[in-house]
Amino acid sequence: MTVAVAYCDDAHKQLIDLIGQLNDAMNNGRGEKVIVGILTSLSTYCQEHFTKEEHILEQQGYPQFKEHKQIHDTFMRKVTESIEGLKNHTVSPASIMNLLSDWLMLHILKVDKR
Ligand SMILES: [Fe+2]
Ligand SMILES: [Fe+2]
Repeated sequence: MTVAVAYCDDAHKQLIDLIGQLNDAMNNGRGEKVIVGILTSLSTYCQEHFTKEEHILEQQGYPQFKEHKQIHDTFMRKVTESIEGLKNHTVSPASIMNLLSDWLMLHILKVDKR
């Protein structure tokens, strides 16, 4: 296994773990502060991961680099909007969970495996 692949696997596990923490917090009816906190960590971690992953993909001459970067950018924008929405009560925690689990399925399990 290459270092790059090992790195991405590790990072994806971390992201899955954070999504799990968020799910637990929501199921246990934890307050908005806790949920916003986890979501903020997730957002920071994601941005870091995307930057590294994009660097790796670019170096490897990954053919769908532009599309892949665009998927990352769109996702980051949605996460940022969700955090704002959660704070001003225009977005429900459940819809954020949908966004994250859809992304998890699509992105981590499919796109990054290409
Ligand atoms: Fe990734
Ligand atoms: Fe990715």
